[in-house]
Amino acid sequence: MKILVTGGDGMLAKAIRNIYPAYQLEICFCSKSVLDITDSDKLLEYFRAHHFDVIINCAAYTNVERAETDVSSAYAINETGSRNLAMAAKSVDALLIHISTDAVYDGRKSDVYHEGDICNPLSVYSKSKFAGESEILKHHNKAIIIRTSWLYSLDKPNFVTAIINKAKATGNLSVIYDQLGTPTYTYDLANAILAILKSNQIITHSGIEIYHYSNEGAISWYDFAVNICCILGIDANVTPITTSEYPSKVVRPFQAIMSKAKIKKNFGLVIPYWRDSLEECLSSYK
Ligand SMILES: NC(=O)c1ccc[n+]([C@@H]2O[C@H](COP(=O)([O-])OP(=O)(O)OC[C@H]3O[C@@H](n4cnc5c(N)ncnc54)[C@H](OP(=O)(O)O)[C@@H]3O)[C@@H](O)[C@H]2O)c1
Repeated sequence: MKILVTGGDGMLAKAIRNIYPAYQLEICFCSKSVLDITDSDKLLEYFRAHHFDVIINCAAYTNVERAETDVSSAYAINETGSRNLAMAAKSVDALLIHISTDAVYDGRKSDVYHEGDICNPLSVYSKSKFAGESEILKHHNKAIIIRTSWLYSLDKPNFVTAIINKAKATGNLSVIYDQLGTPTYTYDLANAILAILKSNQIITHSGIEIYHYSNEGAISWYDFAVNICCILGIDANVTPITTSEYPSKVVRPFQAIMSKAKIKKNFGLVIPYWRDSLEECLSSYK
């Protein structure tokens, strides 16, 4: 099985790159400079030349704040780029594994979200990601879409690294407590994707399936920050604030907690609890 990872310099791609040798899979990683997913001709040419069986799309426009004013770039990458990948993958009959977001939900459900629930994305970023999912559904017939949430690692700047840096620099943090979700350690998601590729179901996979993947449990951004400081022994004053007290143009779901029952059942995955994964991640912090 020959596998391509697009967006090869991103945070999730980096986790896949660091663990894939243990899975004995043949994976090629392409960064934006080598393979720009907005260039449909290049994608077609590249896929035809290299005969990939699986494409893992880690490429995306992920700056949620900037997307509010840079709308055309967010759509060019997250919507058009996804369509280009779907069409190129279809032309060579390759399975597309695409990463999407919990933010396709509006967070108004008072229970956990299931994959078939109605989507109502609120921000430019999440609308562009949902548009990308729709393009894949329209243009391919062999895909797995994985909606994930609150990705972090120590490899690239993200919420965890920002909290560590600010807590150490100032000793004072104000963090939102009225948005609930689930952190996802990129290495857990990377392991899940590679385990799926090693599973028997993948050989016969057809159609488009949507799955949820995050760590287990649900917390607020405030709880997340307090736990980061606590695990690392950083003596910081963390103040809980409401969403309205935090300056942002982005409208985010108040709670988008996703059921992972489908992915666990179909692929026999065991998903770590968020606090265990956070401890695992921070154990390598120097
Ligand atoms: N981070 C989160 O909290 C989160 C939450 C839910 C879902 N997700 C989804 O999870 C996936 C992985 O996220 P991540 O955090 O690993 O993102 P990331 O670190 O921002 O990585 C995305 C990569 O895509 C590259 N890229 C941008 N435009 C491209 C293009 N036109 N062609 C090829 N590559 C391009 C970026 O390169 P440059 O940096 O050079 O632009 C970057 O290396 C994304 O689909 C994201 O939407 C993320």
